[in-house]
Amino acid sequence: MNMGWLFYGVVGYMILSIIGSRVDGIGANWGTQATHPLQPEIVVRLLKDNEIQKVKLFEADSSILNALSNSGIEVMLGIPNDMLYSLATDASAAEDWVSQNLSSHISSVDIRYVAAGNEPLLATYNGSYLTTTLPALQNIRSAVVNAGYGNQVKVTVPLNAAVYQSSTTVPSGGDFRADIHDLMLQIVDFLNAGGAPFLVNIYPFISLYDDPHFPFDYAFFNGYSLPLNDNGKTYDNVFDANYDTLVWALEKNGYGNLSIIVGEIGWPTDGDKNANLTLAQRFNQGCINHISSGNGTPMRPNASIDAYLFSLIDEDDKSTEPGNFERHWGIFYFDGTPKYELNLGTSNSGLVAAKGVTYLRKQWCVMSPSASLGDPEVAPSVSYACANADCTSLGYETSCGNLNARQNISYAFNNYYQRQDQLDSACKFSNLSVVTKADPSAGTCKFFIMIDTTSSDAVVSISFPRMHVVLLLLLLGTL
Ligand SMILES: *[C@@H]1O[C@H](CO)[C@@H](O)[C@H](O)[C@H]1NC(C)=O
Ligand SMILES: *[C@@H]1O[C@H](CO)[C@@H](O)[C@H](O)[C@H]1NC(C)=O
Ligand SMILES: *[C@@H]1O[C@H](CO)[C@@H](O)[C@H](O)[C@H]1NC(C)=O
Ligand SMILES: *[C@@H]1O[C@H](CO)[C@@H](O)[C@H](O)[C@H]1NC(C)=O
Ligand SMILES: *[C@@H]1O[C@H](CO)[C@@H](O)[C@H](O)[C@H]1NC(C)=O
Ligand SMILES: *[C@@H]1O[C@H](CO)[C@@H](O)[C@H](O)[C@H]1NC(C)=O
Repeated sequence: MNMGWLFYGVVGYMILSIIGSRVDGIGANWGTQATHPLQPEIVVRLLKDNEIQKVKLFEADSSILNALSNSGIEVMLGIPNDMLYSLATDASAAEDWVSQNLSSHISSVDIRYVAAGNEPLLATYNGSYLTTTLPALQNIRSAVVNAGYGNQVKVTVPLNAAVYQSSTTVPSGGDFRADIHDLMLQIVDFLNAGGAPFLVNIYPFISLYDDPHFPFDYAFFNGYSLPLNDNGKTYDNVFDANYDTLVWALEKNGYGNLSIIVGEIGWPTDGDKNANLTLAQRFNQGCINHISSGNGTPMRPNASIDAYLFSLIDEDDKSTEPGNFERHWGIFYFDGTPKYELNLGTSNSGLVAAKGVTYLRKQWCVMSPSASLGDPEVAPSVSYACANADCTSLGYETSCGNLNARQNISYAFNNYYQRQDQLDSACKFSNLSVVTKADPSAGTCKFFIMIDTTSSDAVVSISFPRMHVVLLLLLLGTL
């Protein structure tokens, strides 16, 4: 080894040491259930521009993992629920998953966790995954260990906060839900033995949505006039109370030191009366400030809270079964445009928009001025448009809830037209519609133009500092 290589080797080691240490700051969930998803390279640049250093993925998508290659961004790699059965019953399926989805990327992608399943113990799944969740976890971990990544990659499972509850009105009554108590202890024991965190999704928005009597201010982080007193510990926000209910459940069962990661936390901006920009900004900024403060929670004071925002970008193809808000959780719109001011606790004062996004032509499909509201074709046309597009912004007290009837119909037509990539045939609603170049957006209601995911022009090349990549590869090659 000549001195040059020694020098690069030392610098490379220093870089690896930096990469190897855990990063602070908030992470983000990167979901892809969108009809027109942003290119992975654009999203990675968005993450870097916003100094978001941790992402959680819901499945191993190789184009996303390739884009994350050499980004330095920490990755939690999800596995969908529908894979749990085969992973649980067939150890070789787990070996295959690890070799195809983990081993093949780990030399260039900083994978720290595998998150098997997504809230598999939710009551709405009727117990479908009760018998497969733990064996799947065990098989995945064995496969990770056998592949030689047992120290770097921890195997866990994202659970909803509904797996625990309090028998009283305060966190100290916390324990795991009675019907899954034994299973939870086995899962917790598995996590503890593997040095893996308990991963929990906490949703104050859903508390408010489900219960009209839920105290409004208690959902946020700005204080609440009637804080709970739990043997001297004071709770003025439901996040802390929820988190500490879990801490109590763990403690009561002998795992009081298990680390906790909040896998999802956030607030939607549309589709419900409490889902708007103001409240989402209030919640998310409050949450980030709380985490940045380093104060922890009353049960774990001064502990750093590790959390992933839900979510990074809106996903217009998600099921609306949970509610119309489900497609609006992003801190960015579908195209990577920031929704509101948010300081992530980094050197940026606000969110930085995605760069290099190409859009379809600047035109919209609207109700023709000559068409009549009384035309009998109107209702079936709107039904058809909404059944095949996204009308979740049109309900009562949503961003487009104040439109008049003509605008409302136009919104439905346009959403369908954009989703159909502005095909001429997609703006032919029985002579009711026309294409216009004038933006019909009104007030809080945005008439979007879709991202161009069809033409070859859309494949933008991101100007990436190529020299740095080459240098990094050289450095890594010397180790
Ligand atoms: C890798 O992950 C993807 C996405 O989760 C899945 O479709 C694929 O089957 C996995 N590969 C193997 C060998 O299991
Ligand atoms: C759970 O059971 C209910 C009632 O039997 C049923 O309507 C629902 O579709 C089931 N859900 C799943 C995910 O199987
Ligand atoms: C928890 O961690 C603390 C500090 O590291 C240690 O003193 C204590 O013994 C641990 N408790 C258990 C139950 O492992
Ligand atoms: C957001 O929602 C809250 C609660 O429903 C409401 O009081 C407030 O006026 C809304 N803000 C905006 C800007 O729509
Ligand atoms: C607008 O459209 C939605 C969805 O079709 C409908 O529920 C709502 O009542 C309409 N509002 C008006 C003012 O037409
Ligand atoms: C649209 O209008 C034209 C001219 O009035 C008519 O010939 C045609 O049948 C109409 N199309 C539909 C689908 O109503």
